Amino acid sequence: RSLSRRQFLALTAGSAGAVLLSQCSRGQTQTPSKPPIRGSTFYPSRNGVLELDLEARQSQIQLGGQRIEVLAYNNQIPGPRLEAKPGDRVRIRLQNNLSNPTNLHYHGLHIPPTDPADNVFLRVGRGEQVTYEFSIPPDHWGGLAYYHPHLHGYVADQVLGGLGGIFVVRGALDHIPEIQAAEEIFLFLKDFIVEPHQSMMGRMAGREGDLVTVNGQVNPAFSIPAGGLARLRLVNASNARFYRLSLEKHPFYLIATDGYPLSVPVELSELLLSPGERAEVLIQGTQELGQYRLLNLPYRRGRMGMMGRGRMGGMRGDRDSVAPQVLATLTYSGQVQPQSFPQRLIAVEALPDPTRVRQFVLNHGMAPGQGMVFLMNGKPFDPQRIDTEVVLNTIEDWEITNTGVMDHPFHLHTNPFQVIARNGQPTPYPAWKDTVLVPTGETVRIRIPFKDYPGKTVYHCHILDHEELGMMGTIEMRG
Ligand code: C2O
Ligand code: CU
Ligand code: CU
Repeated sequence: RSLSRRQFLALTAGSAGAVLLSQCSRGQTQTPSKPPIRGSTFYPSRNGVLELDLEARQSQIQLGGQRIEVLAYNNQIPGPRLEAKPGDRVRIRLQNNLSNPTNLHYHGLHIPPTDPADNVFLRVGRGEQVTYEFSIPPDHWGGLAYYHPHLHGYVADQVLGGLGGIFVVRGALDHIPEIQAAEEIFLFLKDFIVEPHQSMMGRMAGREGDLVTVNGQVNPAFSIPAGGLARLRLVNASNARFYRLSLEKHPFYLIATDGYPLSVPVELSELLLSPGERAEVLIQGTQELGQYRLLNLPYRRGRMGMMGRGRMGGMRGDRDSVAPQVLATLTYSGQVQPQSFPQRLIAVEALPDPTRVRQFVLNHGMAPGQGMVFLMNGKPFDPQRIDTEVVLNTIEDWEITNTGVMDHPFHLHTNPFQVIARNGQPTPYPAWKDTVLVPTGETVRIRIPFKDYPGKTVYHCHILDHEELGMMGTIEMRG
Protein backbone atom coordinates (compact mmCIF):
# COMPACT_ATOMS: atom_id res chain seq x y z
CA ARG A 1 0.00 0.00 0.00
CA SER A 2 2.76 2.43 0.76
CA LEU A 3 4.77 3.97 -2.05
CA SER A 4 8.44 4.36 -2.58
CA ARG A 5 9.78 7.86 -2.99
CA ARG A 6 10.21 7.31 -6.73
CA GLN A 7 6.60 6.14 -7.17
CA PHE A 8 5.43 9.09 -5.11
CA LEU A 9 7.36 11.57 -7.24
CA ALA A 10 6.11 9.97 -10.45
CA LEU A 11 2.53 10.22 -9.23
CA THR A 12 2.75 13.77 -8.03
CA ALA A 13 4.56 14.89 -11.19
CA GLY A 14 1.73 13.40 -13.25
CA SER A 15 -0.92 15.38 -11.42
CA ALA A 16 0.96 18.65 -11.21
CA GLY A 17 -1.12 20.18 -13.98
CA ALA A 18 -4.43 19.55 -12.30
CA VAL A 19 -5.67 22.84 -10.93
CA LEU A 20 -8.17 22.50 -8.15
CA LEU A 21 -11.23 24.59 -7.70
CA SER A 22 -10.57 25.22 -4.05
CA GLN A 23 -10.22 28.92 -4.73
CA CYS A 24 -14.00 29.04 -4.73
CA SER A 25 -13.73 29.72 -1.01
CA ARG A 26 -12.92 33.24 -2.19
CA GLY A 27 -15.47 35.49 -3.80
CA GLN A 28 -19.19 36.05 -3.40
CA THR A 29 -18.86 38.32 -0.39
CA GLN A 30 -18.83 42.09 -0.60
CA THR A 31 -15.65 44.07 -0.18
CA PRO A 32 -15.44 45.44 3.36
CA SER A 33 -15.88 49.15 3.79
CA LYS A 34 -12.86 49.58 6.07
CA PRO A 35 -9.38 48.21 5.35
CA PRO A 36 -8.31 45.40 7.67
CA ILE A 37 -6.40 46.28 10.79
CA ARG A 38 -2.80 45.08 10.89
CA GLY A 39 -2.23 43.10 14.01
CA SER A 40 -5.08 42.27 16.23
CA THR A 41 -7.23 43.89 18.85
CA PHE A 42 -7.03 42.55 22.36
CA TYR A 43 -10.03 41.06 24.14
CA PRO A 44 -9.36 40.20 27.79
CA SER A 45 -12.05 38.70 29.98
CA ARG A 46 -13.80 41.10 32.36
CA ASN A 47 -15.35 40.09 35.67
CA GLY A 48 -14.77 36.44 34.83
CA VAL A 49 -16.37 36.56 31.38
CA LEU A 50 -14.84 36.70 27.92
CA GLU A 51 -17.53 37.58 25.45
CA LEU A 52 -17.23 38.67 21.85
CA ASP A 53 -18.53 38.45 18.30
CA LEU A 54 -16.28 36.96 15.66
CA GLU A 55 -17.20 37.48 12.04
CA ALA A 56 -15.40 35.37 9.44
CA ARG A 57 -15.34 36.90 5.97
CA GLN A 58 -13.27 37.53 2.91
CA SER A 59 -11.21 40.67 2.90
CA GLN A 60 -8.30 42.35 1.14
CA ILE A 61 -5.06 43.52 2.62
CA GLN A 62 -1.99 45.41 1.49
CA LEU A 63 1.02 43.15 2.17
CA GLY A 64 4.60 43.63 1.02
CA GLY A 65 3.46 46.20 -1.52
CA GLN A 66 0.76 43.97 -2.96
CA ARG A 67 -2.95 43.76 -2.47
CA ILE A 68 -3.97 40.24 -1.58
CA GLU A 69 -7.20 38.44 -0.84
CA VAL A 70 -7.45 37.09 2.67
CA LEU A 71 -10.00 35.46 4.95
CA ALA A 72 -10.18 37.26 8.28
CA TYR A 73 -11.94 37.37 11.64
CA ASN A 74 -13.35 40.83 12.39
CA ASN A 75 -11.43 42.17 9.43
CA GLN A 76 -8.10 41.65 11.22
CA ILE A 77 -4.96 39.70 10.33
CA PRO A 78 -4.35 37.87 12.64
CA GLY A 79 -7.73 37.57 14.36
CA PRO A 80 -8.40 39.26 17.73
CA ARG A 81 -6.15 38.16 20.58
CA LEU A 82 -8.37 36.62 23.25
CA GLU A 83 -7.40 36.28 26.86
CA ALA A 84 -9.01 34.50 29.79
CA LYS A 85 -8.08 33.16 33.21
CA PRO A 86 -8.70 29.73 34.72
CA GLY A 87 -12.29 29.64 35.95
CA ASP A 88 -13.50 32.24 33.42
CA ARG A 89 -16.59 31.78 31.30
CA VAL A 90 -16.16 32.15 27.52
CA ARG A 91 -18.92 33.06 25.07
CA ILE A 92 -18.02 33.54 21.40
CA ARG A 93 -20.64 34.23 18.74
CA LEU A 94 -19.27 33.16 15.36
CA GLN A 95 -20.94 34.72 12.33
CA ASN A 96 -20.03 32.94 9.11
CA ASN A 97 -19.95 35.40 6.23
CA LEU A 98 -17.57 33.27 4.18
CA SER A 99 -18.79 31.62 1.02
CA ASN A 100 -18.29 28.17 2.59
CA PRO A 101 -19.20 26.47 5.87
CA THR A 102 -16.78 26.75 8.76
CA ASN A 103 -16.49 26.32 12.55
CA LEU A 104 -14.01 27.02 15.36
CA HIS A 105 -11.51 24.84 17.16
CA TYR A 106 -9.70 25.87 20.35
CA HIS A 107 -6.32 24.21 19.84
CA GLY A 108 -4.59 23.81 23.20
CA LEU A 109 -7.57 24.40 25.48
CA HIS A 110 -8.65 21.55 27.73
CA ILE A 111 -12.42 21.97 27.28
CA PRO A 112 -15.20 19.54 26.21
CA PRO A 113 -14.89 18.31 22.60
CA THR A 114 -18.68 18.50 22.37
CA ASP A 115 -21.33 21.21 21.83
CA PRO A 116 -21.38 24.04 22.66
CA ALA A 117 -17.60 23.98 23.24
CA ASP A 118 -14.94 22.42 20.97
CA ASN A 119 -16.98 20.23 18.60
CA VAL A 120 -14.95 20.05 15.38
CA PHE A 121 -17.75 18.10 13.64
CA LEU A 122 -20.09 21.10 13.92
CA ARG A 123 -20.91 22.71 10.59
CA VAL A 124 -21.70 26.42 10.58
CA GLY A 125 -23.22 27.08 7.17
CA ARG A 126 -22.72 30.16 5.07
CA GLY A 127 -24.64 33.07 6.59
CA GLU A 128 -25.23 31.17 9.84
CA GLN A 129 -24.35 32.09 13.39
CA VAL A 130 -23.42 29.85 16.30
CA THR A 131 -22.54 30.57 19.94
CA TYR A 132 -19.66 28.74 21.59
CA GLU A 133 -19.85 28.62 25.34
CA PHE A 134 -17.54 26.98 27.86
CA SER A 135 -15.53 27.52 31.04
CA ILE A 136 -11.78 27.46 31.34
CA PRO A 137 -11.32 24.82 34.09
CA PRO A 138 -10.09 26.35 37.38
CA ASP A 139 -6.98 24.13 37.29
CA HIS A 140 -6.15 24.97 33.65
CA TRP A 141 -2.47 25.69 32.91
CA GLY A 142 -1.49 29.16 31.75
CA GLY A 143 -0.28 29.23 28.18
CA LEU A 144 -0.72 29.93 24.53
CA ALA A 145 -3.64 28.38 22.66
CA TYR A 146 -4.61 28.95 19.05
CA TYR A 147 -8.13 29.18 17.59
CA HIS A 148 -8.73 28.36 13.95
CA PRO A 149 -11.40 26.82 11.68
CA HIS A 150 -11.67 23.02 11.77
CA LEU A 151 -14.38 21.84 9.39
CA HIS A 152 -12.95 18.91 7.41
CA GLY A 153 -12.80 19.80 3.71
CA TYR A 154 -12.33 23.52 4.38
CA VAL A 155 -9.65 23.71 7.09
CA ALA A 156 -6.58 24.05 4.88
CA ASP A 157 -8.07 26.70 2.56
CA GLN A 158 -9.47 28.72 5.45
CA VAL A 159 -6.27 28.64 7.53
CA LEU A 160 -4.14 29.32 4.46
CA GLY A 161 -6.47 32.23 3.67
CA GLY A 162 -5.70 33.82 7.04
CA LEU A 163 -8.25 32.65 9.61
CA GLY A 164 -6.78 32.14 13.08
CA GLY A 165 -5.83 33.93 16.24
CA ILE A 166 -4.20 33.66 19.65
CA PHE A 167 -6.06 32.56 22.78
CA VAL A 168 -4.03 33.24 25.93
CA VAL A 169 -4.79 31.67 29.28
CA ARG A 170 -3.16 33.73 32.04
CA GLY A 171 -1.96 31.27 34.67
CA ALA A 172 0.79 30.27 37.06
CA LEU A 173 3.66 30.89 34.63
CA ASP A 174 2.57 34.51 34.25
CA HIS A 175 2.84 35.06 38.00
CA ILE A 176 6.56 34.25 38.25
CA PRO A 177 8.12 37.67 39.01
CA GLU A 178 10.92 37.46 36.40
CA ILE A 179 8.42 36.41 33.72
CA GLN A 180 6.03 39.13 34.76
CA ALA A 181 8.77 41.72 34.39
CA ALA A 182 9.80 40.52 30.92
CA GLU A 183 8.68 42.36 27.80
CA GLU A 184 5.90 40.21 26.34
CA ILE A 185 5.91 39.90 22.55
CA PHE A 186 3.42 37.80 20.59
CA LEU A 187 4.62 36.50 17.24
CA PHE A 188 1.96 34.94 15.03
CA LEU A 189 3.80 33.33 12.11
CA LYS A 190 1.74 33.03 8.96
CA ASP A 191 2.53 32.85 5.27
CA PHE A 192 0.23 34.08 2.51
CA ILE A 193 -0.17 33.13 -1.12
CA VAL A 194 0.00 36.24 -3.25
CA GLU A 195 -1.18 34.70 -6.50
CA PRO A 196 -3.49 31.75 -5.96
CA HIS A 197 -2.34 28.82 -8.06
CA GLN A 198 -3.17 25.49 -6.54
CA SER A 199 -1.99 22.24 -8.00
CA MET A 200 -2.75 18.83 -6.57
CA MET A 201 0.93 18.38 -6.02
CA GLY A 202 1.14 21.59 -4.04
CA ARG A 203 -1.52 20.20 -1.75
CA MET A 204 0.30 16.89 -1.31
CA ALA A 205 3.47 18.66 -0.34
CA GLY A 206 1.47 21.07 1.80
CA ARG A 207 0.97 24.56 0.39
CA GLU A 208 3.27 27.32 1.57
CA GLY A 209 2.66 30.98 0.82
CA ASP A 210 5.51 33.01 -0.59
CA LEU A 211 4.88 35.99 1.66
CA VAL A 212 5.83 35.32 5.27
CA THR A 213 4.34 37.59 7.92
CA VAL A 214 4.60 38.10 11.65
CA ASN A 215 1.42 39.55 13.17
CA GLY A 216 0.24 40.32 9.63
CA GLN A 217 3.34 42.36 8.82
CA VAL A 218 6.50 41.78 6.85
CA ASN A 219 9.56 42.06 9.13
CA PRO A 220 7.96 44.06 11.96
CA ALA A 221 10.16 45.82 14.54
CA PHE A 222 9.89 45.31 18.29
CA SER A 223 11.71 47.27 20.93
CA ILE A 224 13.12 45.79 24.10
CA PRO A 225 14.60 47.63 27.08
CA ALA A 226 18.39 47.18 26.98
CA GLY A 227 19.60 44.50 29.39
CA GLY A 228 16.05 43.32 30.06
CA LEU A 229 14.32 40.05 29.36
CA ALA A 230 11.97 39.54 26.47
CA ARG A 231 9.40 36.77 26.37
CA LEU A 232 8.67 35.73 22.79
CA ARG A 233 5.36 33.88 22.48
CA LEU A 234 5.40 32.13 19.12
CA VAL A 235 2.59 30.47 17.16
CA ASN A 236 3.07 28.64 13.88
CA ALA A 237 -0.27 29.41 12.22
CA SER A 238 0.81 28.28 8.76
CA ASN A 239 -0.84 25.56 6.72
CA ALA A 240 2.42 23.75 5.97
CA ARG A 241 5.43 26.01 6.46
CA PHE A 242 7.98 25.08 9.12
CA TYR A 243 9.98 27.75 10.95
CA ARG A 244 13.52 26.98 12.03
CA LEU A 245 14.09 30.01 14.20
CA SER A 246 17.27 31.58 15.41
CA LEU A 247 18.09 34.99 16.83
CA GLU A 248 21.37 36.64 15.91
CA LYS A 249 23.94 36.47 18.71
CA HIS A 250 21.41 35.20 21.24
CA PRO A 251 20.43 31.81 22.58
CA PHE A 252 16.77 31.10 23.28
CA TYR A 253 15.68 29.94 26.73
CA LEU A 254 12.69 27.73 26.14
CA ILE A 255 10.10 28.18 28.92
CA ALA A 256 6.98 26.64 27.37
CA THR A 257 6.24 24.08 24.67
CA ASP A 258 2.91 24.48 22.85
CA GLY A 259 0.66 25.84 25.60
CA TYR A 260 2.45 24.33 28.60
CA PRO A 261 5.21 25.61 30.92
CA LEU A 262 8.47 23.70 31.46
CA SER A 263 10.02 22.97 34.86
CA VAL A 264 13.19 24.93 34.11
CA PRO A 265 14.33 27.09 31.18
CA VAL A 266 16.21 25.11 28.51
CA GLU A 267 18.92 26.82 26.48
CA LEU A 268 18.65 26.38 22.70
CA SER A 269 20.56 27.85 19.78
CA GLU A 270 17.61 27.36 17.45
CA LEU A 271 13.99 26.31 17.61
CA LEU A 272 11.97 24.34 15.07
CA LEU A 273 8.23 25.02 14.96
CA SER A 274 6.09 22.84 12.71
CA PRO A 275 2.49 23.85 11.86
CA GLY A 276 0.24 24.05 14.92
CA GLU A 277 3.16 24.14 17.36
CA ARG A 278 3.69 27.05 19.74
CA ALA A 279 6.64 27.85 21.96
CA GLU A 280 7.71 30.49 24.41
CA VAL A 281 11.29 31.60 24.80
CA LEU A 282 13.04 34.14 26.95
CA ILE A 283 15.86 36.13 25.49
CA GLN A 284 18.32 37.90 27.73
CA GLY A 285 18.69 41.41 26.44
CA THR A 286 22.18 42.51 25.62
CA GLN A 287 23.69 45.55 27.29
CA GLU A 288 24.72 46.80 23.89
CA LEU A 289 22.11 48.83 22.12
CA GLY A 290 21.33 47.70 18.62
CA GLN A 291 19.27 45.56 16.32
CA TYR A 292 19.01 41.80 16.21
CA ARG A 293 17.17 39.85 13.58
CA LEU A 294 14.88 36.89 14.17
CA LEU A 295 15.74 34.52 11.34
CA ASN A 296 14.02 31.61 9.67
CA LEU A 297 16.73 29.16 8.59
CA PRO A 298 16.22 26.73 5.70
CA TYR A 299 14.55 23.45 6.59
CA ARG A 300 13.88 20.32 4.55
CA ARG A 301 10.48 18.84 5.22
CA GLY A 302 11.46 15.19 4.90
CA ARG A 303 12.93 13.45 1.91
CA MET A 304 10.74 15.34 -0.55
CA GLY A 305 13.26 18.14 -0.33
CA MET A 306 12.06 21.65 -0.94
CA MET A 307 8.99 20.54 -2.79
CA GLY A 308 6.17 22.91 -2.03
CA ARG A 309 8.48 25.85 -1.70
CA GLY A 310 9.55 26.22 -5.30
CA ARG A 311 8.07 25.65 -8.72
CA MET A 312 7.26 22.04 -7.98
CA GLY A 313 4.72 23.05 -5.39
CA GLY A 314 3.01 25.30 -7.87
CA MET A 315 4.03 28.47 -6.09
CA ARG A 316 6.32 31.27 -6.98
CA GLY A 317 9.56 32.24 -5.37
CA ASP A 318 11.77 29.68 -3.67
CA ARG A 319 14.19 32.43 -2.69
CA ASP A 320 13.60 31.54 0.94
CA SER A 321 14.59 27.93 0.39
CA VAL A 322 18.29 28.73 0.53
CA ALA A 323 18.93 32.00 2.32
CA PRO A 324 17.78 32.66 5.88
CA GLN A 325 14.73 34.83 5.94
CA VAL A 326 14.31 37.80 8.29
CA LEU A 327 11.06 37.43 10.23
CA ALA A 328 11.30 40.34 12.66
CA THR A 329 13.80 42.84 14.01
CA LEU A 330 14.34 43.42 17.72
CA THR A 331 15.83 46.69 18.88
CA TYR A 332 17.46 47.13 22.29
CA SER A 333 17.15 50.68 23.43
CA GLY A 334 16.93 52.96 26.44
CA GLN A 335 18.80 52.79 29.74
CA VAL A 336 20.44 49.47 30.47
CA GLN A 337 18.33 47.69 33.10
CA PRO A 338 19.79 44.32 33.98
CA GLN A 339 17.01 41.96 34.95
CA SER A 340 17.15 38.67 36.80
CA PHE A 341 16.49 35.36 35.12
CA PRO A 342 14.02 32.75 36.47
CA GLN A 343 15.62 29.53 37.75
CA ARG A 344 12.48 27.44 38.21
CA LEU A 345 9.22 27.54 36.34
CA ILE A 346 6.21 25.23 36.83
CA ALA A 347 6.93 21.60 37.76
CA VAL A 348 6.05 19.12 35.02
CA GLU A 349 4.54 16.10 36.78
CA ALA A 350 6.05 12.67 36.15
CA LEU A 351 3.43 10.33 34.70
CA PRO A 352 2.88 6.77 35.90
CA ASP A 353 3.28 3.87 33.48
CA PRO A 354 0.57 3.50 30.84
CA THR A 355 -2.27 1.00 31.03
CA ARG A 356 -2.17 0.48 27.29
CA VAL A 357 0.18 0.98 24.33
CA ARG A 358 -1.09 1.66 20.79
CA GLN A 359 0.68 1.93 17.46
CA PHE A 360 0.01 4.59 14.84
CA VAL A 361 1.50 4.65 11.36
CA LEU A 362 1.64 7.79 9.22
CA ASN A 363 1.90 7.21 5.49
CA HIS A 364 0.37 7.95 2.12
CA GLY A 365 -1.05 5.68 -0.57
CA MET A 366 -3.68 5.29 -3.26
CA ALA A 367 -7.41 5.03 -2.67
CA PRO A 368 -9.82 3.79 -5.34
CA GLY A 369 -11.37 6.76 -7.10
CA GLN A 370 -9.56 9.33 -4.96
CA GLY A 371 -5.98 9.07 -6.14
CA MET A 372 -3.34 9.94 -3.62
CA VAL A 373 -4.48 9.99 -0.02
CA PHE A 374 -2.74 10.46 3.27
CA LEU A 375 -3.33 7.74 5.78
CA MET A 376 -3.59 7.27 9.52
CA ASN A 377 -2.97 3.60 10.30
CA GLY A 378 -3.54 2.68 6.66
CA LYS A 379 -6.93 4.41 6.40
CA PRO A 380 -8.06 7.79 5.10
CA PHE A 381 -10.29 9.85 7.43
CA ASP A 382 -13.93 8.83 7.86
CA PRO A 383 -15.92 10.95 10.33
CA GLN A 384 -18.49 8.15 10.81
CA ARG A 385 -15.91 5.64 11.96
CA ILE A 386 -14.43 5.48 15.46
CA ASP A 387 -10.79 4.60 15.15
CA THR A 388 -9.66 4.74 18.75
CA GLU A 389 -11.70 4.17 21.90
CA VAL A 390 -10.19 5.20 25.19
CA VAL A 391 -11.37 5.06 28.79
CA LEU A 392 -11.27 8.28 30.81
CA ASN A 393 -8.89 8.37 33.78
CA THR A 394 -6.44 6.00 32.13
CA ILE A 395 -3.00 6.71 30.73
CA GLU A 396 -1.92 5.46 27.31
CA ASP A 397 1.32 5.42 25.35
CA TRP A 398 1.03 5.99 21.61
CA GLU A 399 3.89 4.98 19.42
CA ILE A 400 3.69 6.99 16.21
CA THR A 401 5.82 5.88 13.26
CA ASN A 402 6.26 7.82 10.06
CA THR A 403 6.91 5.41 7.19
CA GLY A 404 6.26 8.06 4.52
CA VAL A 405 8.60 10.48 2.80
CA MET A 406 7.44 13.71 4.39
CA ASP A 407 7.63 14.96 7.96
CA HIS A 408 4.26 15.04 9.74
CA PRO A 409 3.39 17.08 12.87
CA PHE A 410 0.98 14.85 14.83
CA HIS A 411 -1.70 16.65 16.86
CA LEU A 412 -4.19 15.29 19.38
CA HIS A 413 -7.18 17.37 20.53
CA THR A 414 -8.43 17.95 24.10
CA ASN A 415 -5.77 16.11 26.14
CA PRO A 416 -2.11 17.14 26.12
CA PHE A 417 0.66 14.54 26.30
CA GLN A 418 4.31 14.18 27.18
CA VAL A 419 6.83 13.01 24.61
CA ILE A 420 8.54 10.02 26.24
CA ALA A 421 11.00 8.89 23.58
CA ARG A 422 12.22 9.42 20.02
CA ASN A 423 13.45 6.33 18.18
CA GLY A 424 13.77 4.53 21.50
CA GLN A 425 15.85 7.29 23.12
CA PRO A 426 14.24 8.95 26.15
CA THR A 427 13.61 12.68 25.70
CA PRO A 428 16.07 14.93 27.61
CA TYR A 429 13.52 16.80 29.75
CA PRO A 430 9.83 16.34 30.55
CA ALA A 431 7.43 18.64 28.71
CA TRP A 432 3.75 18.76 27.84
CA LYS A 433 2.82 19.11 24.18
CA ASP A 434 -0.25 18.80 21.98
CA THR A 435 1.54 18.67 18.62
CA VAL A 436 4.72 16.71 17.99
CA LEU A 437 6.81 16.47 14.87
CA VAL A 438 7.31 12.92 13.59
CA PRO A 439 10.02 13.19 10.93
CA THR A 440 10.16 10.70 8.08
CA GLY A 441 11.55 7.34 9.17
CA GLU A 442 11.20 8.09 12.88
CA THR A 443 9.10 6.81 15.78
CA VAL A 444 7.87 9.06 18.58
CA ARG A 445 6.36 7.71 21.79
CA ILE A 446 3.91 9.95 23.64
CA ARG A 447 2.15 9.41 27.02
CA ILE A 448 -1.40 10.72 27.35
CA PRO A 449 -3.54 10.96 30.49
CA PHE A 450 -7.18 11.02 29.34
CA LYS A 451 -9.13 13.27 31.65
CA ASP A 452 -12.41 14.98 32.35
CA TYR A 453 -14.32 15.03 29.07
CA PRO A 454 -16.17 12.21 27.36
CA GLY A 455 -16.89 12.62 23.64
CA LYS A 456 -15.57 12.20 20.17
CA THR A 457 -12.75 14.22 18.67
CA VAL A 458 -9.75 13.82 16.35
CA TYR A 459 -6.00 13.48 15.97
CA HIS A 460 -4.30 14.40 12.72
CA CYS A 461 -1.33 15.75 10.84
CA HIS A 462 -1.20 19.53 11.31
CA ILE A 463 0.04 20.09 7.76
CA LEU A 464 -3.57 20.90 7.06
CA ASP A 465 -3.46 19.79 3.42
CA HIS A 466 -2.50 16.32 4.72
CA GLU A 467 -5.37 16.39 7.19
CA GLU A 468 -7.73 17.26 4.30
CA LEU A 469 -6.28 14.47 2.15
CA GLY A 470 -7.05 11.90 4.85
CA MET A 471 -4.39 11.90 7.57
CA MET A 472 -6.82 12.13 10.49
CA GLY A 473 -8.39 9.63 12.86
CA THR A 474 -11.27 9.81 15.34
CA ILE A 475 -11.10 9.11 19.03
CA GLU A 476 -13.99 8.45 21.41
CA MET A 477 -13.38 9.03 25.11
CA ARG A 478 -15.70 7.13 27.45
CA GLY A 479 -16.38 7.51 31.16
CU1 C2O B 1 -4.89 23.12 15.37
CU2 C2O B 1 -7.08 19.79 14.95
O1 C2O B 1 -6.02 21.46 15.09
CU1 CU C 1 -6.29 21.12 17.95
CU1 CU D 1 1.55 15.53 7.19
